[in-house]
Amino acid sequence: MAVTDNQTSKSKSSRLFQTLAYFGVVPFIGSFKWLQKLFGEKTPSATNASEVVLVVGANGGVGKRVVPLLQKRGYQVRSLVRDAKKAEKVLGKNVEIVTADITKPETLTPEIFKDVSKIICCTGTRVQPVEGDNPNRDKYYQGIKFFMPEVVEDPQLVEYEGMKNLVAAAKPQLQPSNNKIIFDFTNPTQDVKETWGALDDVVMGGVSESSIRLTGSSALFSGNVSTENSGGFVSVRTRNFDPPMNLLGYAGIELRVKGDGKRYKFFLRCEDKWDGVGYSYSFDTVYNIWMTIRIPFKDLIPVFRAKVVENAQPFNPSQVYSYQLMLSKFEYNRELNPKFAPGFFQLEVESIKAYGRDELPKFVLVSSAGVTRPGRPGLNLDEQPPAVKFNDQLKGLLNWKLKGEEVIRSCGIPYTVIRPCGMTEQPGGQALIFDQGDNIKGIVSRDDIAELCVKVLEENQACNTTFEAKGDKENQATAENWQKLFNSLEADSKKSALTV
Ligand SMILES: NC(=O)c1ccc[n+]([C@@H]2O[C@H](COP(=O)([O-])OP(=O)(O)OC[C@H]3O[C@@H](n4cnc5c(N)ncnc54)[C@H](OP(=O)(O)O)[C@@H]3O)[C@@H](O)[C@H]2O)c1
Repeated sequence: MAVTDNQTSKSKSSRLFQTLAYFGVVPFIGSFKWLQKLFGEKTPSATNASEVVLVVGANGGVGKRVVPLLQKRGYQVRSLVRDAKKAEKVLGKNVEIVTADITKPETLTPEIFKDVSKIICCTGTRVQPVEGDNPNRDKYYQGIKFFMPEVVEDPQLVEYEGMKNLVAAAKPQLQPSNNKIIFDFTNPTQDVKETWGALDDVVMGGVSESSIRLTGSSALFSGNVSTENSGGFVSVRTRNFDPPMNLLGYAGIELRVKGDGKRYKFFLRCEDKWDGVGYSYSFDTVYNIWMTIRIPFKDLIPVFRAKVVENAQPFNPSQVYSYQLMLSKFEYNRELNPKFAPGFFQLEVESIKAYGRDELPKFVLVSSAGVTRPGRPGLNLDEQPPAVKFNDQLKGLLNWKLKGEEVIRSCGIPYTVIRPCGMTEQPGGQALIFDQGDNIKGIVSRDDIAELCVKVLEENQACNTTFEAKGDKENQATAENWQKLFNSLEADSKKSALTV
């Protein structure tokens, strides 16, 4: 009996040591930088580095400004142009160039869209003075001096068919992504296998025992929970991530589980302590039924060893160090778990995701103010900008631009449609004025429109909006001013079809 006792206590202490070692309390375990790759958004530069932004029409007045701005912000940029030689001159050598013509779908090959997560489209039908332009396109670019314009290309092809072709080719890459998989146990990698480990009541002197095992299609958390020796819990926990995961912007965690009718807990930790505050959520399972459990961050309960911690800091989703699944005899503050029974248990987990992130624009289209004005009743054409006034001579350019916008608004990709007023080559830095409803007139620097294109990529308030923009002669751009502008935007879904 003594031998057994001895063996039991030896095996218990060795389990305890193994447990502590696994979780890095005995400090030799490696870090989990690989997992951070899944959540690259920890810092702005990390976010941007993992994204390829495709700039379509990169040789143009706005496109050529957007490219270096994106690079400066750390994005990987791919420039789509019709003429690669021109691109070398316009954009320099430090840019990835791909050649295609959006009016020719066969040129929009899958390689162009490989790893692309966002598109800024600055294409436009070439317009020039009727008497012709000089090689520097000075007159055209000024946007100040009046000239009688003509289109050099068919606007239906560039503005409408081109947009349809571009969307068809890009759509598989640009799906909405307000969820993010953290653990996919249906298709686990070696790293995932080495992340989770058992953490049972042996650390408190108990004798319960659990394990987590990959079945090929799920992770199976199972074992035997015993209340002997004042025990009564089993759990599996990830080792701490280094650096921690950043789930800022998500609403919570979604589990796909099949249980045994018992009540389990899920914990997140936002400090790297082994035995610190955990943020807990209890959920009930139904015997042998797959269920989706949503754990809103706002409903997490801060606990220290199953005692609720009053006045704890709110859960901080920007630094998640570990996840834990638990079956415990206790609920909170020594209340009993009403759906607990000692003995065999099992919980199968298919996936763990973050859900409910605010969507960011993935397709930014530079269109034009005035697209809804041709044919608008009561409009005094003499007071309108040349593009509106001469829309007929320009072969219905604005009508085709509007049709192109509609392709983007209805394609299912999160988008922003920017409608600049008359663009100039003046240096940027002015504050902008936004409007919705297509009524404003004015001028705006291409520098500032390029800045706007890049800014909207990180503005969820700009997602699924259409708005006009012009320069504000009175004011310089400030961070506060930008924020006010984005806050003022209303999503297209809330507006009447006539005004967008
Ligand atoms: N000018 C204004 O005052 C004004 C005002 C409001 C809005 N906008 C609109 O704003 C957008 C950007 O203006 P911007 O001044 O930057 O125009 P831009 O200088 O004329 O540039 C347009 C770019 O689109 C490219 N492009 C045209 N057709 C293409 C096709 N089929 N496939 C691939 N690329 C194609 C052109 O390529 P190439 O270099 O090969 O020609 C050019 O680089 C345009 O849609 C324009 O209509 C202009």
